Amino acid sequence: MELHKVTLPHRVDDSMAVWEEFKEVSIKYKCVSLGEGAPGMNPPQFLVDAMIESIQEGFNQYTRIMGNPLLVNKIAEIYGKKLNRQVNPLTEVIVGVGAYTLLGSIILALIDPSKNEEIVIFEPCWPCYYDHVQISNAVYRSVPFKLVDGVWRFDPEEFRKTLNEKTKILLLNNAQNPTGKLFSREEYQQISDILKEFPNIIILSDEVYEYLTFDDNEFIHFATIDDNFNKTISVFSGGKLFNATGWKVGWALGPSYLVKAIATIINALVYSTNTPAQVAISKSLDKLTQKGYLGNEDQTYLEYVRSEFQRVRDYMVKEINENMDLPIKALTCESGYFIMVDITDVIPMIPKKYTESHDFEDLQEGESSCNLNRVYMPDGRIPNDLAFCRWMAVERKVMMMPNSLFYYKDSLYKTDNYVRLAICKGLDLSAKAILRLQGKSDQ
Ligand SMILES: Cc1ncc(COP(=O)(O)O)c(C=O)c1O
Repeated sequence: MELHKVTLPHRVDDSMAVWEEFKEVSIKYKCVSLGEGAPGMNPPQFLVDAMIESIQEGFNQYTRIMGNPLLVNKIAEIYGKKLNRQVNPLTEVIVGVGAYTLLGSIILALIDPSKNEEIVIFEPCWPCYYDHVQISNAVYRSVPFKLVDGVWRFDPEEFRKTLNEKTKILLLNNAQNPTGKLFSREEYQQISDILKEFPNIIILSDEVYEYLTFDDNEFIHFATIDDNFNKTISVFSGGKLFNATGWKVGWALGPSYLVKAIATIINALVYSTNTPAQVAISKSLDKLTQKGYLGNEDQTYLEYVRSEFQRVRDYMVKEINENMDLPIKALTCESGYFIMVDITDVIPMIPKKYTESHDFEDLQEGESSCNLNRVYMPDGRIPNDLAFCRWMAVERKVMMMPNSLFYYKDSLYKTDNYVRLAICKGLDLSAKAILRLQGKSDQ
């Protein structure tokens, strides 16, 4: 029996997550998925062994709220070097249930829900931030990335105008999902200089793809620019780092006054994070950068992962740009799990049933449709990228993500000319997807 008089707060929009529709469509139409950012690779054996060992050694009960001492000590040692400073493991490091829960907890800890405080984010971005903004009762402000000569850039003046005395958090994501952008030192210096006019803004820097930079591109931690460590919380993901996204262990580093506030939320919500996984990660972090991985004395685990991802990126970019029967074009990808593809020229070829209606499925009698995102562009159209992804899922059995869903619901900057493809699935699966996209195979 439903209690009809019960009112629910709907802190977060009830609309489906982008990937929920595509998971369902993908299963129904037997697609190869280039959608969700879950790696095709398994974690390294040394991590798996360390997990078994940790359980056998008895690390099976709750641990310290801010993180198991073995892990926070190791993080302080390794990330202290990356951030060029002495990091206090007990006061400046906090562990949480993946970067995801940490990001949400940090925003909850920092935003006063009664004050219309603002969070500024560059768009397009990882859509989970929107839920975090809503659940904390913050006000969302965005700055658009624009493609300039094939590279995603922002206008510093536009960025400056977005900031004001109500801005509480600037949320940066480097390397960036979905664009594959890496912020350059020059761009970070520009941001840092502008922030000097607004000394009370806290920077939340999501750096879960820090280790995945291609073509010898430089990765820069925002906390290392000027004295920004004192107002920056940098967030990392053990799941992404070790290709173990299901383990859900992440960590954040920042000044103790901010980390303490985050700990109160972690305590309220989860208390402590998976102990054996924390201990296993603490035993494995050094091994990420030790030579000799897979018997190759010149190679570390991280170098191996980076080269595997880059191999997939290069293969996909070449195939998409040179060997397609559809006029689509891969954009530059400097880092991370995804490449963006420009679909502008293929839009006129998308059948009308996808561009003019959400009810694109040819249903048999009694068959129900998939759960679909009934979303529209500001001018009332069905987004072209959504229509394209549905068309490709049904006709070529490949699942991709529409970029328009990486903008806030009523964002003025929404574009629907790009789709996002995962490059984290390994070469075999990527080649299978490419053959299907080329219309050469449905296997
Ligand atoms: C930009 C970004 N931040 C955070 C996360 C979540 O990280 P975790 O798996 O550690 O929760 C993801 C996952 O896709 C991501 O793309």
